[in-house]
Amino acid sequence: MTGQLRHMLRDDDLNHAEQLQVLELGMKFRENRFYRQPFAGPQAVAVLFDKPSTRTRSSFSIGVAELGGYPLVIDKSGSQLGRGEPVADTARVLTRMAYGIVWRTFGQDRVEAMAKYATCPVVNALTDDFHPCQVLADFLTIAQFRGGVKALAGKTIAYVGDAANNMANSYLLAGAVAGMHVRVAGPYGYLPRKDIVDDAERLAAENGGSILVTTDPREAVAGADCVFTDTWVSMGEEAEYAIRSKPFWDYQVNDDLMALAQPDALFQHCLPAYRGKEVTTSVIDGPQSVVWDEAENRLHAQKALLTWLVGQQRGDESLLA
Ligand code: CP
Repeated sequence: MTGQLRHMLRDDDLNHAEQLQVLELGMKFRENRFYRQPFAGPQAVAVLFDKPSTRTRSSFSIGVAELGGYPLVIDKSGSQLGRGEPVADTARVLTRMAYGIVWRTFGQDRVEAMAKYATCPVVNALTDDFHPCQVLADFLTIAQFRGGVKALAGKTIAYVGDAANNMANSYLLAGAVAGMHVRVAGPYGYLPRKDIVDDAERLAAENGGSILVTTDPREAVAGADCVFTDTWVSMGEEAEYAIRSKPFWDYQVNDDLMALAQPDALFQHCLPAYRGKEVTTSVIDGPQSVVWDEAENRLHAQKALLTWLVGQQRGDESLLA
């Protein structure tokens, strides 16, 4: 195969077969943390944060090291990017030194600009629009507990809460790519953008899945194989919790809502969670919750993604499986 520079900026940057390949690779990394070491050298991967993080920071830092590389972690406050240096200039500099760039930032346009000027793979570690690495980990978690990667197609997943946020968008696109039946429920004013729903519906039709966007959380969860939620307040909005949370109380994932899903349905939350708000303690700390495996799977899924991306760039098929 000839080398091809690929990026992971939004969930549909992988097609159905490619998503399966990355998730299968993730299962291999679950079994053997040192399954592949594409960054042996060590080669550096720049991991940039414009927003706080626990899971993404630890999983990419440890993940790059376990891939044989050197994780160069840079915070907004400690970089010229944080003082307004153009993204294009930052990309041109980092790409001369690093073998990959991972970035948590605000606007989707910023990671797209980074990818435009970088000559190494760029990975979206969360933007205002998408969180594709999280959803790869979430699907790996379903595969871990419910029959492997090939059993993902045809499963029904339900996301309940702020359906206009990056997690809802990523479930729509990634679930559609996977051939799942994706249901998203949120109150009026907190539903996904039309362009994202249109893309998800087109992808779902191509891959044998379906999309439902509703304001009824019970309709979304009925018969689901996995139920997801996320915080009702985004990073930086915590001070407005009382006001922000008002429309969402009907969307709390509690025992009554979980009872509508399959009896063996899984519960996932990307974390951090607000117990007693978007999810009750009985659910997140209960027997159907797999949130700690989900968090661990960030490590395996992202190592798989980075390995797959550099495998594509180098034209090295041994890194794709
Ligand atoms: N889920 C997630 O991205 O967690 P962090 O914000 O801690 O990275």
